[in-house]
Amino acid sequence: MIWGEGSPDFSSSSGSDTKSAVNQGLTEEQLLACIDRSRLPHHIAVIMDGNGRWAQKRKLPRIAGHRAGMRAVRQAVEACRQLGIPYLTLYAFSVENWKRPQTEVDLLMALLREYLKKEMPELQRQNIRLLVIGRMQELPKSVQHDLREALESTRRNTGLQLTLALNYGARAELADAFRKLMRLSKRDRKFRMSEELISQNLYTRGMPDPDLLIRTSGEMRLSNFLLWQAAYAELWVTDTLWPDFTHKDLYQAVFDFQRRERRYGGLGLS
Ligand code: FPP
Repeated sequence: MIWGEGSPDFSSSSGSDTKSAVNQGLTEEQLLACIDRSRLPHHIAVIMDGNGRWAQKRKLPRIAGHRAGMRAVRQAVEACRQLGIPYLTLYAFSVENWKRPQTEVDLLMALLREYLKKEMPELQRQNIRLLVIGRMQELPKSVQHDLREALESTRRNTGLQLTLALNYGARAELADAFRKLMRLSKRDRKFRMSEELISQNLYTRGMPDPDLLIRTSGEMRLSNFLLWQAAYAELWVTDTLWPDFTHKDLYQAVFDFQRRERRYGGLGLS
């Protein structure tokens, strides 16, 4: 690890990967200075959870939590851009979320449209490319329309790739991929099933697998998110509710990620 100039010395720490720099009272600037820019995760995926509880704690309607969650989206995007992380994927609406009351679903869809409208100039300014994974064709027509416009207008941007998982479910994604592969196998006599072929037929084709998967609000679940792609992702769970998530939390997650040893089933270096 390359330590930033004047950065705190952790060399005598226990080496526990859960040891938190926040507990050691680091400022956001100090945390930033401690991050080794040559060993950044290529892809960070986030399960944004806790909007409802955030609102409930304040005796506000749930949608106020989702609205506050939109601010946290901005924080995460800015922090990734600041670090130079190439891919950020946010779980914004799952295939299971349709089970929520219709008013909440409608308000979430309205919030998504509002986000696209408000954030587009900033996304363009920051050279961010927007992508969507999930069964987009099942979203309301107005949302599909706005998404298509946003995807098209950021298509040539070369900075951070921001992917929104919308009407997304990992099992649905795998089922869609297997259906495509079955069709392919019937047409091609040389067809050979492989892990690579499965990856290439997922919604995330062309993206690296996430190295770091963040979940807020303390729940220890994957909730049907990127089940195939997250096979070797480092999991980082924080009790912070999503609307309270800031740049500093993201820097903290990256900092902790860099202190872990990734062994991929092997024996590692030590
Ligand atoms: C989970 O919290 C959050 C969601 C289902 C929706 C996420 C939406 C946003 C962050 C707002 C807008 C996002 C974009 C990309 C514009 P929850 O409601 O399950 O919280 P709870 O578990 O505390 O009830």
